[in-house]
Amino acid sequence: MSRFAIEPHPSPVPAEERAALLEAPVFGTVFTDHMVRATWRAGGAGWHDHRLVPYGPLELMPATSALHYAQEVFEGLKAYRWPDGSIRTFRAAANAERFARSARRLALPELPVADFMDSLAALVEVDQAWVPAGPGTSLYLRPFMFASESFVGVRASHEVSYLVIASPVGAYFKGGLAPVSIWVDQRHHRAGPGGTGAAKCGGNYAASLVSQEQAYAHGCEQVLFLDAVAATHLEELGGMNVVVVMADGSVATPPTSGTILEGVTRSSLLQLVRDRGLEVVERPVELAELLAGLRSGAVAEVFACGTAAVVTPVGRLAGEDFDVAVGDGRPGELTMSLYDELTGIQYGRLEDRHGWTQRLV
Ligand code: COI
Repeated sequence: MSRFAIEPHPSPVPAEERAALLEAPVFGTVFTDHMVRATWRAGGAGWHDHRLVPYGPLELMPATSALHYAQEVFEGLKAYRWPDGSIRTFRAAANAERFARSARRLALPELPVADFMDSLAALVEVDQAWVPAGPGTSLYLRPFMFASESFVGVRASHEVSYLVIASPVGAYFKGGLAPVSIWVDQRHHRAGPGGTGAAKCGGNYAASLVSQEQAYAHGCEQVLFLDAVAATHLEELGGMNVVVVMADGSVATPPTSGTILEGVTRSSLLQLVRDRGLEVVERPVELAELLAGLRSGAVAEVFACGTAAVVTPVGRLAGEDFDVAVGDGRPGELTMSLYDELTGIQYGRLEDRHGWTQRLV
């Protein structure tokens, strides 16, 4: 029995309208009929009032702490419709654990892993008709937690709200699996040593937006950040990790040493690469080395990865004084074969030999 008490939506989206919305969902634009809510209070009350309620506006006081000081963390994971009719998620416990680590860094209370899992199962069960069936589509789940106390003094909030909303999605980039162009921001940084870079908090994404706008202005879909100390090494993209495939078949990616997000998709792909007997090196990757490697052919492929991005080939890297194509501009061979393998596991087409998928419905 779920601890999330259901308050059914009095007027859910009619089936025909829902079917039209599920035809070609644009990332992050459509939301299901329900959402999860729970509240935490300091002073012993802890987490309480676990509910599944109609999706709708929140009523917040203008002094709500998160609106002023960004004490907020979130997660992103997906539910997939399988050929056998079941609905499964992928490594949700890893997201639950990262959610707890992010909460600790932002002085927010930890949500027990069991409650995180229960909240996803409860929402997906009630809104299961919203899980799309088209190729490459899924139900994106967005758990988040924010400081909901009405107080503008600067300290950890004494009241916190947990919510989960769900959104049917297709590919994150409008070109689908077409290679994306990346703008390298050599002036702004996303995170520094000792900061919040490893936490999945809204502030990190807010810090990326000026650079993301510059990327668009230069005809690029995403921005790549460099380290904040020397501005010489790759860190991560605005909303995803980055991986470099060398011509010798080995794979290099920046280590998760505190300033970049510990991507669940990143670690899964690295495991799949290791399973193939290929070498994975988590090491600092210099921008100069990458550019030289792209020009000489020592670097064969570059891809972005994340829950939203899945595996997205990179076709071009541009910055203030360079503009370099990756390979011949077409999706790389290893990139595409990793995309096929990862999505094969996620959608139940390939054997899940690592036990990464869990049935929700
Ligand atoms: C995710 O991949 O889940 C993220 O949170 C990143 C964002 C681009 C949606």
